[in-house]
Amino acid sequence: MPTLRHLAHRAIETAVAGFNRNPWSTEALELMPRSSGSVYKHDGLRTTHNHTFLDTPDFQRAYARAVQAAGWDYEIYWRVHVILWAALTAQSIPGGFIECGTGRGFMASAICEHLAWGDRPFYLFDTFEPNGSPYYADGPRAVQENFREWPGVRLVLGSVPDSLVQIESGPVAFVHIDMNRPSPEEAALRHFWPRLNPGGVVVLDDYAYAGFEDSHHSANRVAADLEFSIVSLPTGQGVAIKPPSTPME
Ligand SMILES: C[S@@+](CC[C@H](N)C(=O)[O-])C[C@H]1O[C@@H](n2cnc3c(N)ncnc32)[C@H](O)[C@@H]1O
Repeated sequence: MPTLRHLAHRAIETAVAGFNRNPWSTEALELMPRSSGSVYKHDGLRTTHNHTFLDTPDFQRAYARAVQAAGWDYEIYWRVHVILWAALTAQSIPGGFIECGTGRGFMASAICEHLAWGDRPFYLFDTFEPNGSPYYADGPRAVQENFREWPGVRLVLGSVPDSLVQIESGPVAFVHIDMNRPSPEEAALRHFWPRLNPGGVVVLDDYAYAGFEDSHHSANRVAADLEFSIVSLPTGQGVAIKPPSTPME
């Protein structure tokens, strides 16, 4: 004999299923287990997994500097957490830091703040041309001004892959690729992976992000050709670490 509670639950499930069949809404309802803990709900992620990194002063300082650079909060806390981990991991590896697709400098500013950047080379590749997106720069001037406090940071203006030759092709320790376009992303990964020192880290911002399937496929092509593997993260990022045994170019 079903209890009243069971019947009520079934009625709610039926109502939800009914709503989800409606032809006029692009949204769907989903019943989820009630959670007693804190829920992280941003940027395509919903989880009750531990996200206490949000409360740490180091993270908060780095994130606040990213917001200062962009002028608004992208609400990509977990992605920033990943990039800060990657940058910290690459900090002890010799070689420069690279970002392809800098926009207003959100991620790169968080990294510089977190690692107390000095004069170590950090090359920021972008056209820095506005395109109407609030994530894109309004031109190089404001971005240049934002990074003025860190002498090692250099803006490399131009279109990847053509602009890649503008810097010395020495070994690198860290590469962040975030151009929202599979073709230059593939070229950048193909260019920098052989130049990455063992232990160096690559973060692909678009790798697993919904709507960026072409970036996923192009990165996988490079990984298959150059024989390395990429881990897909629920943040939408992909990460690869150069194994110690891989010979450098
Ligand atoms: C999503 S935004 C980057 C966001 C940035 N990583 C941040 O932290 O805010 C993508 C950027 O890629 C740049 N971009 C796109 N195609 C490019 C190309 N072929 N060469 C250089 N930059 C490119 C755009 O100008 C834009 O600033």
